[in-house]
Amino acid sequence: MKHQTILILDFGGQYNQLIARRVRECGVYCELVSYTAPLSRLKAMDPIGIIFTGGPHSVYAPGAPSVDPEIFTWGVPVLGICYGCQLMAHLLGGSVIPAQDDSAREYGKTPARFDTACALFKDLPAESVTWMSHGDYMERVPDGFVTAAWSDACPHAAIADSVRGFYGVQFHPEVNHTEYGRQMLRAFLYDVCHATGDWTMGDFKDRSVAALREKIGDKKVLLALSGGVDSSVAAALLAEAVGSQLTCVFVDHGLMRKDEGDEVQAAFAPWPINFVRVNAEERFLGKLAGVTEPERKRKIIGEEFIRVFEAEAKKIGAVDYLVQGTIYPDVVESGTGDAAVIKSHHNVGGLPDYVDFKEIIEPLRLLFKDEVRQLGRELGLPEYLVSRQPFPGPGLAIRVIGEVTKDKLDTLREADFIFRDEVAKAHLEGAMDQYFAVLTNMRSVGVMGDGRTYDYTLALRSVTTADFMTADWTRIPYEVLDAVSTRIVNSVPGINRVVYDITSKPPATVEWE
Ligand code: XMP
Repeated sequence: MKHQTILILDFGGQYNQLIARRVRECGVYCELVSYTAPLSRLKAMDPIGIIFTGGPHSVYAPGAPSVDPEIFTWGVPVLGICYGCQLMAHLLGGSVIPAQDDSAREYGKTPARFDTACALFKDLPAESVTWMSHGDYMERVPDGFVTAAWSDACPHAAIADSVRGFYGVQFHPEVNHTEYGRQMLRAFLYDVCHATGDWTMGDFKDRSVAALREKIGDKKVLLALSGGVDSSVAAALLAEAVGSQLTCVFVDHGLMRKDEGDEVQAAFAPWPINFVRVNAEERFLGKLAGVTEPERKRKIIGEEFIRVFEAEAKKIGAVDYLVQGTIYPDVVESGTGDAAVIKSHHNVGGLPDYVDFKEIIEPLRLLFKDEVRQLGRELGLPEYLVSRQPFPGPGLAIRVIGEVTKDKLDTLREADFIFRDEVAKAHLEGAMDQYFAVLTNMRSVGVMGDGRTYDYTLALRSVTTADFMTADWTRIPYEVLDAVSTRIVNSVPGINRVVYDITSKPPATVEWE
């Protein structure tokens, strides 16, 4: 499983995960590691290149994040970005000072000029736009370095020591606003670090399958399948690796969208795995009867999920391995590379700690979400499973406002299906990160034919967001909203009014409950 590795030393900048994604997009494997990691661990990674990230500090401030300068003696190329560039200059004898006045600070799109003889900028225009975000600047470059780019306010926007393979850029090449940023990163990876591009999903799949086969041998493996992208791709990978030794337990709580349970089951039919679908709709709806408080609904569903999974796991008997769909952002966000196993008991639907297994396997822990999707395609999972939008664990129970009943769920399923279908017809999926229907608990008067109706109001919700922490409502074209509304009120009994939620998060949340 050894790939050429780029070590990204994390000094706390806001774009650090983006740097990692850009490097991976170039076909090169990388890991983001905190600057506090011991030097021995960094060396053991045997990187072909190192990137120092940006960060919010000043290199001359007391206690500013730093790294042992021994790293510069390894003979490994280094690219410093923003703070990382200043830190390298500072450690190698240059000088970094705070901008004296506003004219020397740069934020946002900034034109810069480049020395196209420099390896990072060769074959690129001599002038282009960069994304700057810095209050400090390099006053003097260290010995051995030359200035390779400059802007009006920044005399050393890039520095280079081609002999040692050390490069620094004051701007952020990982951000889209830097016009040729991707090409610059690529040049560092391929021309300076001599990457071969050995990180492809096909290759990752083959190596993972081989490694899983070796690790698992003839033992039994258990996986809780939710139907979400991560657990589906993990299941497909394990299915490919160990086939009939794998048991997937898919708890269908009856709170899925239209046809979803059947789609998940059908997707796994081609593999010779043990697929256990537990149809637990009655059990879940029984527990939810009369419950209207959103947090109480969540709690009931979470607990019930565990009880059902546990009962199935008991029937299967002792298994050696439990598979979790932990992905790389979960690992990075946990702060240290070692913490993931500890929290993994809880990070997929809160599985019980005491299911009878010996070890946890996390086959996706190196991958970003878009890489997980690519791997799913590589494994032959259908596109509707691989590209699906996030769906909350409690399912439609938190999209039926108030008490959850089978009738209301069926009504919502039909309306939600129509919304998704019209969005697909209008080819708008790419513009929306999550979109769904909510059955409100409000009824109002309408008129249909010659008769009065007194039916529910359905709300449509769609958001555009990078991280779901904040979100903007999507500007869906009126014609599409009109088509959705007309089709729903004409064909879904029980709904006589459709509204569109135009609230951002904050102050609202994405889900209504
Ligand atoms: P909110 O409503 O908190 O949603 O703005 C942000 C994202 O989280 C999802 N979400 C959940 N996911 N269990 C989940 O697995 C939950 O209880 C839950 N509540 C919200 C939501 O769909 C959105 O993607």
